[in-house]
Amino acid sequence: MNSTFPYKAIVAVSQNGVIGKNGDLPWRLPGDLKWFKKITMGHIVLMGRKTWESLPFALPGRKNWVLSRSGNPQEGMDIIRSTDEILPKLQAGEQIFVIGGGEIYAHCLSKCNEIYITEVLQTIQGGDAFFPDYKQDFEPIETLDENEDFILRRWSRKS
Ligand SMILES: NC(=O)c1ccc[n+]([C@@H]2O[C@H](COP(=O)([O-])OP(=O)(O)OC[C@H]3O[C@@H](n4cnc5c(N)ncnc54)[C@H](OP(=O)(O)O)[C@@H]3O)[C@@H](O)[C@H]2O)c1
Repeated sequence: MNSTFPYKAIVAVSQNGVIGKNGDLPWRLPGDLKWFKKITMGHIVLMGRKTWESLPFALPGRKNWVLSRSGNPQEGMDIIRSTDEILPKLQAGEQIFVIGGGEIYAHCLSKCNEIYITEVLQTIQGGDAFFPDYKQDFEPIETLDENEDFILRRWSRKS
């Protein structure tokens, strides 16, 4: 993995930019979750405290790093108080996947060189977490899956 650019993001976004509603994902897409597992397995997953709280347990086979200014450490995760702590904590060759939610994407997307974006073919009303604008800075370079529920593409930072 590329240690010069250790950050990538992965997200599922509705047609109207929604990523979350009432503290959870607004959809159930097992096919997308399989891709999420395959892409992130073995790497560091960096998430916000609210996304951590939406999970039933730590994501297995991955280091779960949770950004929180005031939360307490829990089993299966490491608390990160500030993004300044991340690079000194990183071991050679490790890859970080920024996995959300909205606040963390907004804070960390500028550090990412690639984004795996699942375009969910739904429009969600009443969403309360959103993905920031990315199309000015990133371009699609690969389509990994396309079906009646979603399209998964890999986007790379424009040179
Ligand atoms: N569709 C997707 O791909 C996807 C992926 C992930 C999550 N989601 C959804 O997104 C929603 C959650 O997103 P959210 O924006 O509400 O919350 P979030 O980004 O998951 O977490 C926000 C929390 O992270 C901590 N934080 C934020 N910035 C920080 C910083 N710079 N340094 C240290 N800590 C920081 C704070 O925790 P403290 O308050 O503890 O300080 C803050 O309250 C849920 O609905 C979830 O299901 C969707």
